[in-house]
Order: sequence, then structure tokens, then C-alpha cells
Amino acid sequence: MPEYKYHELGDLAKEAPKLFGIPTGTKLDEMFFKIEEEDGALVKKPLGGLPYLSVFNISGIPDTGKSLFAEQFAAYQASKGYKVLFVTVESPANFLYSAIKEKCKALSLDFDEVEKNIVVIDASEEEELRENPKALMETMAYAIKEKKITNVIIDSITGLYEHKEVMARQIVRQFFNFLKKWRQTGLFVSQKRSAQASESVEAAGGLAVAHIVDGTIVVDKKLIMSQREASLYKKPIGDVIRLIRIDGCRLSGHDSRTWVFEITELGIVNIIAPLAEYIRR
Ligand SMILES: Nc1ncnc2c1ncn2[C@@H]1O[C@H](COP(=O)(O)OP(=O)(O)O)[C@@H](O)[C@H]1O
Ligand SMILES: [Mg+2]
Repeated sequence: MPEYKYHELGDLAKEAPKLFGIPTGTKLDEMFFKIEEEDGALVKKPLGGLPYLSVFNISGIPDTGKSLFAEQFAAYQASKGYKVLFVTVESPANFLYSAIKEKCKALSLDFDEVEKNIVVIDASEEEELRENPKALMETMAYAIKEKKITNVIIDSITGLYEHKEVMARQIVRQFFNFLKKWRQTGLFVSQKRSAQASESVEAAGGLAVAHIVDGTIVVDKKLIMSQREASLYKKPIGDVIRLIRIDGCRLSGHDSRTWVFEITELGIVNIIAPLAEYIRR
């Protein structure tokens, strides 16, 4: 006789996560919101970050600032005293060290504090961790337990299913469930091949991956190649315009506009204005 199991909705109240924001240190934090009642009226309140316990994809073609964003999020959280686990799959851990250190300088964050609060698992130099999700998850579980981690970044999740894109859904699902089980707020960097429509949420491994996570942030860049584009975006031909948007979030309300951002000389993601406003001014 199989065991049938169901929940009364009301019984789930005590396990329901509170809705509040985990700041990324970028303007994205004001782009998530919740609805609250104030003097009998419903008002939109910014969450102030990624929804607590959400798992997000940040997806884009190469060189769109995904890693910079992930590092900024890690440094910002760590500077506030929260423990971050950074799983680096593409770039060796010593490069991450330098990148985070630079970020702290640029953002005036206390590197001594940040250094203490970021734990790194280097899967870039260890094939076993890259090829065997179970081995990686065991290592992650150990770090999460030992170091009281609350935020996890994997840069990139696509690097865990290179050469086996048919596995994409299964691998993303496993890591998604893993972060849920360990009650983490998570960010997966998702590499898109340049051939795919660059502004779409589709990552290597197919569109279906986006349905597994709680939401997707899409970053894109556009090379300005015509006089028309140059006057539209008010940038010289040959320049790049960078775009970011939240492409859906199942845990909270969000701004659905496309925003213009820049990567400063110091490698900081600076979100400027909604594209429509940017063009108008
Ligand atoms: N100080 C900096 N550090 C790192 N990248 C910088 C810096 N300044 C500008 N950049 C630009 O940002 C890009 C980095 O994007 P990155 O986040 O690595 O892209 P990806 O989306 O591939 O992860 C670089 O290729 C470079 O063009
Ligand atoms: Mg990268």
C-alpha cells in the first residue's frame, strides 16, 4: 500500500519563508517588490534584494557581466557578515581572490571582513567536482554545514554540463533542490551560446532550464553599428550598450522593464535607467 501524503494549506504556514530581500549591492534590489497594505490601500514595497531563499539564474552570452554581478553579490553579502559559498567552475579560485579584492576596493567594502565570509570551492581545476554532481554537492553540503553558509553562487552551472546538454535539466534540478534543502539563497550563472537569441532566457541546454529556477535575470549587450542606433542610444558607433532585466520571478513581484547598465572601469555593475527613459533623455 503506497503512502499517500497531502498537506492542508493552513499547515504550511509555519514553513512558509518570509518574503524579504537579500541585497546584491546593485539597483536590482529595488526591482523586486511585494504588496503591503497601508491605511487600507495596497502599496508596492521594494524588497531590497533577491527574494530570500530564491534560486535565480543569471543568463547571457559571453562578456555580459554575469561573473562581475555574481562577484559583486558575493562581496556585498560577505561585507554585511553573511557567509557566501562561491563555487567557481570556469575560472580558478586565485583569480576569484583578486577579483573580489578589487571589487572591495571599488565599492569601499572591508576586504578583511569579506575575506572571512566567502568560502570557495574550486571545481575549475577538479574534474571530479565538475563531472560528478554528487561529489560536488557533498563538498558543498560540508562547507554549508561547517561554515554556516546562507548564500550560494555557482559560476557557472552550465559548466557542469558541458558536452552533455541533454543532462541540463536534470543537473539544474538537482542543484536547485539541493539549495532548497539547505535553505540557501542561490545564484546560478548560465552561459548562453552566442548563436542563441541573446536577449532570451534560453541557456545552453535549452529553454526548459529557466522553468526550474525561481526566476531569471537576463543580461545582454548590443554593439552599436548604425547611425540610427547611435542616435537612438546616444553612443558612438562601435560602442556597446548593456541591458539587464528580470525575466520572471515566481516568488515576488518585479520590475519587468529592460534597464541600461554599465560596467565601470573598476568592474562594477552600475544599473542606470530603464531603456525607454534612457532613450528619451
Ligand atoms: N575591472 C574589471 N574587471 C573585470 N571586468 C571588467 C573590468 N572592467 C571592465 N570589465 C569588462 O567586463 C567584462 C567582464 O564580464 P564578465 O562578468 O566576466 O562576463 P561574463 O558574462 O562572461 O561572466 C570584461 O570582459 C570587461 O569587458
Ligand atoms: Mg563569466
